[in-house]
Parts: sequence; C-alpha cells; structure tokens
Amino acid sequence: MAQARIGVIGLGEFGIQHLRCFRQMGYWGEAQLVAACEINEELLERRMQEFDFTGYTDYEEMLDREDLDGVTVVTPDYLHRMFVVAAAERGIHVLSEKPLDVTMEGCREMIEAAERNNVLLQVDFHKRFDEYHIAMKQKIDAGDLGEIEYGYAHMEDRIEVPRDWWPAAAEKSSPAWFLGIHFYDLARFLMNGARGTRVWATGVKKKLKSLGVDAWDSISAKVEFDNGATVMFDTSWIMPDPFEAIVNQGIRLVGTEGMLECDSQDRGTITCTYEEGMMTHNKSFLRERIDKQGRQIFEGYGMDSIADFARNVNVLIDGGTLEDLGDYASGYDGLEATRIGVGVHKSIETGEVVDLTEL
Ligand SMILES: NC(=O)c1ccc[n+]([C@@H]2O[C@H](COP(=O)([O-])OP(=O)(O)OC[C@H]3O[C@@H](n4cnc5c(N)ncnc54)[C@H](O)[C@@H]3O)[C@@H](O)[C@H]2O)c1
Repeated sequence: MAQARIGVIGLGEFGIQHLRCFRQMGYWGEAQLVAACEINEELLERRMQEFDFTGYTDYEEMLDREDLDGVTVVTPDYLHRMFVVAAAERGIHVLSEKPLDVTMEGCREMIEAAERNNVLLQVDFHKRFDEYHIAMKQKIDAGDLGEIEYGYAHMEDRIEVPRDWWPAAAEKSSPAWFLGIHFYDLARFLMNGARGTRVWATGVKKKLKSLGVDAWDSISAKVEFDNGATVMFDTSWIMPDPFEAIVNQGIRLVGTEGMLECDSQDRGTITCTYEEGMMTHNKSFLRERIDKQGRQIFEGYGMDSIADFARNVNVLIDGGTLEDLGDYASGYDGLEATRIGVGVHKSIETGEVVDLTEL
C-alpha cells in the first residue's frame, strides 16, 4: 500500500496535531511526514526538535523542492487560499483546516484549482468523525426522527483562545468562522447535505473590546435549510477562565417523529485538582497514550479526520479515483459551510435576513 508523502503548512496551536498525526501514521507505515513550513523561525526550530521533517520558511520552496503527494494547510482562518491553490496547481492533494475560506470567491477559486488539476481538496471538518455524531446520523438516516423541523447548536471557547493565543488573528476571524463553521457543517452532515437558504444573525462586541481586542464576543444565527429545517447556532469565545473545559459544545435536532440531543463536550469524565479546579474532558476529540514501543500516540476524532486525508491520498496514489473515496468533507462542503458563515456576517452588518442562495 502507498505511504503518502505529506507536508504541513502552519505549525502553530493546531499545526502540532497534524505533525502528531502524520508522525504516528509513519510508525504504522501509512504515511510519511516529509516536510513542514512555518514563517516563525523560532517555532519552526522548536517543532523540528520534536518531530523529524525537513523545515522551510517559504511554502513555495517546500512545494517545489519536495516530492509531496499531499499538503495540509493549518494557517489562520483567513489565510488558507494561497497555499491551497499553490498546492493544487502543482498537482498536490490538499487538506485545508476549517473554514475553507472566509469568502465565497476564495472557496470557488480553490475548488476550481483542484478540479482543473484533478487533485483531492478536503476540509478538516472533524465533527463528522465523532462517534456520537455518527450515531446521531445513523438514527436520522434510518428515518427515526422523521422530517427534521428545527434544531439548536452551540460552541463556546474559553476566553484564553482569542485573548491569549492569537488576538490579532481573532480580529480577522470570529466565533462564527472559528467555531460556528464546525456546526454549520455538522448540521449539513446530519441532514444529508442540506444547503442553507436564509440566515438572520446578531453579534456582540463588548468583553474582548474592553480587553483591547476588536473581535466579536458572540454571534447567534438562525439558519433555514432547504429541507425545511431551521437551526439556531450560538457561538462565542468569552467563556470565563474558570470554565470547566476549553470548549463547550452540543447539538439537538427535532423532527416529526422524534428528537436527538448530544452533549458534544461532556463525555462523562470529570477531574478536580487544586491547580485546575473542576474540569470535564472530551476524550473523544483527543486522548494520549504510550504504545508498547514507548511511543506517544494520539487518538480521537481530531486525529481521525486528518488521517482520513492521508488514507484518501493513498487510495489515489494506488490508482483510485476521487469517486472511489466515498464520503469525505469536500471543497463543495467547505463552500456550503462558508456560504452560511458569509451570510451570518452579512446579516450582522445589514441587520437583514440574508438570502444564502444569492451569495
Ligand atoms: N480542527 C480543529 O479542531 C482546529 C482547532 C484549532 C484550530 N483549527 C484551525 O487551524 C488553523 C490554524 O489555527 P491555529 O490555532 O493553529 O493558529 P496559530 O496562529 O496558532 O497557527 C497558525 C500558524 O501559521 C503560521 N503561518 C502564517 N503564515 C504562514 C506562511 N506564509 N507560511 C507558513 N506558516 C505561516 C503562523 O506563523 C502560525 O504559527 C485555523 O484555520 C483554525 O481554524 C482547527
């Protein structure tokens, strides 16, 4: 079986998860972490000490020099487009972090570049790999809920994310782009690919502004889908520091024949220590173990979603076609989630209901 030669662009807070994923796929003969690019030289150096790859500060040099089969893009929300297009134009398969882009034109350009060069364009919508969500989808697909009429989703980060991790990038992103996009896609995934048709949204800037960060605190959006359902999405990144988890999240859907509700954060594990206070842990997302060879291994849907890309690339290297890959979060899915995100921000700006089909 092929072992995709992988490069990673952007080695920040989440880039390390991509490095971990491809390093351990190397242990199992499934992929090779060949190269990675990061403009922050001190960070690049640190990552190179922990992981074994050829480091670059110029992504074009990496794409031109290394014989890569696939590249993953883990740069800030508004900065995926140029890397995705550059890889696709060189015939390299690409996984983009979510959101695919924060504009419709950007998504369309990426999709066109991938189609023109016949390469895989995949988006890291990991909520599709959460076993709890997969169980929800099985019940919905079996018709147990009947026709879905309405629903509610929330995703809320602790304030350290926009305040401490990257305040400048937070001003160019939002709770809708960073968090909401996961659940816009999850709602589409659960509702058999339903497309957003209309949205009305509101946003508040108070807490972060008082801390000198000009970013949205919270965004609430009511989205209508073409299956007739409406779903409310509440997103924020101002949960107080003592909150019991870095993220709080969940979804419920109600149909003509039944309802489903999922606490996507609390998986039943709590801890309490003097240092951390009360904590709940979503071990389905990421959990660490040491294997029998003494190597650090990470498991969970956060890893599965990234690994799925490399496995898809292996199928293509072995002569398969994009059609052989079955379901995956495609560039089109990225575009449809971004359509909702663009509409959400347009509605906040105008105060109007936005027709998503016109975007
Ligand atoms: N799937 C998930 O669970 C998840 C979680 C967190 C973040 N993300 C996504 O991952 C992406 C990155 O988020 P993050 O929190 O890691 O941000 P981050 O700011 O910590 O990391 C981004 C990195 O990209 C680097 N970068 C910027 N321009 C570059 C360039 N031209 N060449 C090479 N490197 C460059 C930055 O120096 C930085 O280190 C975002 O799109 C975010 O939405 C996904």
